Amino acid sequence: MSRTLFVTTALPYANGSFHIGHIMEYIQADIWVRAMRMAGHTVHFVGADDTHGAPIMLKAEAEGVTPKQLVERIGAERPQYLKGFQIEFDHWHSTDSAENVELSQDIYRKLRAAGLINTREIEQFYDPVKGMFLADRYIKGECPKCHAKDQYGDSCEVCGAVYAPTDLIEPYSTLTKARPLLKTSEHYFFQLSDPRCIEFLQTWTTGSNAQGNKHLQAEVLAKTREWLGNGDEKANLGDWDISRDAPYFGIEIPDAPGKYFYVWLDAPVGYLASLKSYCAKIGLDFEALLDPNGTTEQVHFIGKDIVYFHALFWPATLQFSGRKTPDQLNVHGFITVSGEKMSKSRGTGISPLRYLALGMNAEWMRYYIAAKLNARVEDIDFNPDDFIARVNSDLVGKYVNIASRAANFISKYFDGQLAYPDDAAMLGSNWAQAADRIRADLEAREYGRAIREIMAHADQINQAFDAAQPWLIAKTLASAEPSQRDALQHICSSALAGFKALSVMLAPILPALSQRVATELFGQASSFVWTDAGVLPSQINPFKHLMQRVEPTMLDELFEIPAQDAAPKQGSSAKKSAAATQTTATKPQHQQATNAQTADSNLAEVAAAAPGGEPLAPAITIDDFVKIDLRVARIVNCEPVEGSTKLLRLTLDVGEGRLRNVFSGIQSAYTPEQLIGRLTVVVANLAPRKMKFGISEGMVLAASHFDAKIDAGIYVLDPSSGAQPGMRIH
Ligand code: MSP
Ligand code: ZN
Repeated sequence: MSRTLFVTTALPYANGSFHIGHIMEYIQADIWVRAMRMAGHTVHFVGADDTHGAPIMLKAEAEGVTPKQLVERIGAERPQYLKGFQIEFDHWHSTDSAENVELSQDIYRKLRAAGLINTREIEQFYDPVKGMFLADRYIKGECPKCHAKDQYGDSCEVCGAVYAPTDLIEPYSTLTKARPLLKTSEHYFFQLSDPRCIEFLQTWTTGSNAQGNKHLQAEVLAKTREWLGNGDEKANLGDWDISRDAPYFGIEIPDAPGKYFYVWLDAPVGYLASLKSYCAKIGLDFEALLDPNGTTEQVHFIGKDIVYFHALFWPATLQFSGRKTPDQLNVHGFITVSGEKMSKSRGTGISPLRYLALGMNAEWMRYYIAAKLNARVEDIDFNPDDFIARVNSDLVGKYVNIASRAANFISKYFDGQLAYPDDAAMLGSNWAQAADRIRADLEAREYGRAIREIMAHADQINQAFDAAQPWLIAKTLASAEPSQRDALQHICSSALAGFKALSVMLAPILPALSQRVATELFGQASSFVWTDAGVLPSQINPFKHLMQRVEPTMLDELFEIPAQDAAPKQGSSAKKSAAATQTTATKPQHQQATNAQTADSNLAEVAAAAPGGEPLAPAITIDDFVKIDLRVARIVNCEPVEGSTKLLRLTLDVGEGRLRNVFSGIQSAYTPEQLIGRLTVVVANLAPRKMKFGISEGMVLAASHFDAKIDAGIYVLDPSSGAQPGMRIH
């Protein structure tokens, strides 16, 4: 049954640019929205800038512009980020808009009519120079307990004491350094402690939507329990102060001159304002869409830091103003970078714009973030090495390569026509079922699980392809039996049917790539929907290159390395080692190897342990390493060498359009049959060597123990499936 969904992400404060945490949230929501649309559901996906509040007002003032100018400047930046990461909101609006003023004031009037607004005089610090009341974060002073200086108005960072700003000794305003005065003012409160509110929230927080999905994740529900109590315990919920005094950049409270809504009152109303503006644009009836008795599902994606506002205040605000309440709150954790909270000064943050400016592919990031996400409120970590590995070996190495391997045979020998063995019906229904599992995983926001299953399928497709050795059939196709010809076509067609199914499954995550696969490779007129997965393709167009690998150097450029953390210069001193250790600790792992070489302490001991029976060779530089050109090679043929008990003669395809002859001393470990068709790694620029049995043009890499008497075996190196002959090993 087709559903109608109203989906939002948290509205970002308009006093700064997007950071990678915002992008992560939008990617999570965008994937979900696309997956729902592919299932035929109607989705209205909107966002907006959260423009009001004291910080924005003060920042604008510091910059010498009006708050509206600041908000406009930040708003103008948004599209390049969203476009860049393929995040497709239907509409982007602002809380500083006519719709939001109207809706916020309307909601307030209804809450007042319901008897849930009252006023109270409160005493608060006031900056006499600035002429404004001060939120706790703008007041500092001496801790009343341990007497540490310059502590914030709510708690002491030195001794941990918690207090009211009025308890501070020698308080001062951080805005003007003036001594704040205590001043009383009338504030407006939303009476959340009213039994009607408590009762409603008890019900709503434990409730489910029409689909049977819980409104809240288990851990979010547990958190609301701390605030609401369990029903028998008394709720621990105070009334909510929703007013602020002028000067304030916000929406005026009706019938209360000089009073403005606290930003968190009008911010979530901004969800509705954006939808309303969108409805007007496309000619939808906003009120009908959000009819409290209607079937539209309202879904909010937010981070864990703003649960309080979304799980308590927001549903109560909507309920008691007679509006539709949310159906699902999807809370995610925070993204850290190399295990650390993002920090510009330490150079650990990832600038989304820098990422794009470096020419890094947005879909790498979408894929990586998706691979890490699940439905729980867990933090995820951006780790550069992990990023490179997942993108290069999984996404490109496993998935994309299926197409590049199979498509060429089909184009070259079968004029793009696909054909399947007789049991192909099964193939289609298997893919349809797999796609349905992935669809369900994505709907449940188990993106990581979905990707694990997709990659397991990619492995199977590659293994089946390898096992069938189509390149051997292709080599002798001119003289082959028709059944051999059919076999080649079947092998490649099945692989391509799998590739199509996987492309459907990945479409919400990789929108641009899947679009190209649909139109360019499979000649489909429209983008993929879920049911396409089970439809076996009947023809393809010639394969065009689909996706580049990540260059590891891109990640070095992505992280600005702050001056104090830069790698130490030559020359040894105690200071230098300390610096080296520190650098190692804060840098992504792929940058650590070079630092380890300069850290002179423990390495000698480690080397003395002689792993594999031999001490490590003397250190080389990266410049030394790059002289060795290692390439992926396919062993297209292998035979014993007459007159040698040690050697095998290998015929290698290194992707050069010719074959190489290489002798390898691995006869004791492998039969030719075990090696034919396999991929391995070859030193491709080793000068050719004339041997007794012929010329050897390279060397195959294999592992063995140094001491031949220890019969530990010989192991030829294997790249992961999907690697192609000729690829360089870096
Ligand atoms: N303006 C409020 C939200 C109002 S919603 C009616 C706000 N803005 S924010 O810009 O600070 O945060 C916007 C969203 O980004 C929030 O959901 C927040 O949790 C999320 N994130 C901020 N830092 C984050 C990470 N490091 N990682 C993931 N998400 C993070 O809060
Ligand atoms: Zn203290």
